[in-house]
Amino acid sequence: MSSQDIPEENLPAEQGAAHGAVGVADEKHPFADPGLPPHEHRIQDIDERAAKRSERTVALLFTVSMLATIGFIASFVAIDVDKSVYIWPLGHISALNFALGVTLGIALFTIGAGAVHWARTLMSDVEVADERHPIEASPEVREKVFADFKQGAKESAIGRRKLIRTTMFGALTLVPLSGVVLLRDLGPLPEEKLRHTLWSKGKLLVNMNTNEPLRPSDVAVGSLTFAKPEGLEEHDHGFQNEIAKAALMIVRIQPENIKDKRELEWSHEGIVAYSKICTHVGCPISLYEQQTHHVLCPCHQSTFDLSDGARVIFGPAGHALPQLRIGVNDEGYLEALGDFEEPVGPAFWERG
Ligand code: FES
Repeated sequence: MSSQDIPEENLPAEQGAAHGAVGVADEKHPFADPGLPPHEHRIQDIDERAAKRSERTVALLFTVSMLATIGFIASFVAIDVDKSVYIWPLGHISALNFALGVTLGIALFTIGAGAVHWARTLMSDVEVADERHPIEASPEVREKVFADFKQGAKESAIGRRKLIRTTMFGALTLVPLSGVVLLRDLGPLPEEKLRHTLWSKGKLLVNMNTNEPLRPSDVAVGSLTFAKPEGLEEHDHGFQNEIAKAALMIVRIQPENIKDKRELEWSHEGIVAYSKICTHVGCPISLYEQQTHHVLCPCHQSTFDLSDGARVIFGPAGHALPQLRIGVNDEGYLEALGDFEEPVGPAFWERG
């Protein structure tokens, strides 16, 4: 639509004025364009010293942002995580959190304030009124947008005002470092820790419910028993995760029904011990179907066949459950013959 097609009263002020139709809305012209008020030039447009002052203000704000980011990193490195500070009216709060919050807040705020001040005082102050147009941009409009963008970049004087450009890039480059240093909190790589559990040769299998060591006679056909390594009480602080990682499911299957040869060798009279931790995302498996020897993870329905090496027969899990090799000691108790030979749970990145 060109300006010729638009009623004069709806034209932008300057165009409307050219056509003599800018005016007050009335019954006949309810949408008449009241026009733009007379343009007032900013002091920075007519006084180079004022423009310089604005430039220094913008540079100062970006510099403060850089210093605040450095302060953020220094606080993260230097302030003890247990140290607290009294801040009215919040009371005692973590000194580290306070310092990180304040410095990051200043770093972000001053970048924003610098950009706004730059735009308000130094960038182009030309007022334009644009015609309405269809939402879909035509190729000509897109070309115009690119041209306007280039023009805007030129008018922002980013090429000429090197001080602003340098400090702005400095501030924008440093701010992301705040996120990078926080990666340190992810801690060291787990490495071999995922490979091992509390099981080792000779450790007795203890019933999780009764805390009694298990004998083969305690494991009836069709039952599902949960076990943990001997010598660990539930209240042993710091071991809860390790106990959970070592949790076992014990079932008894008729040896002739065990299809996997290695499974049979690692069992005792058909009693097999498998990790209770699902290899999908680590939920504890709790449902056993005695007829089929299938166990089901309640989280996403992964199903494992305990009579066939606990291979996955349904669901999103990508690996069979790790089996623990077991035997019976001289006193007739079930014992482990070593640790798991592969990582338990969803430690897929540790598998060969
Ligand atoms: S955690 Fe077991 S199926 Fe997802």
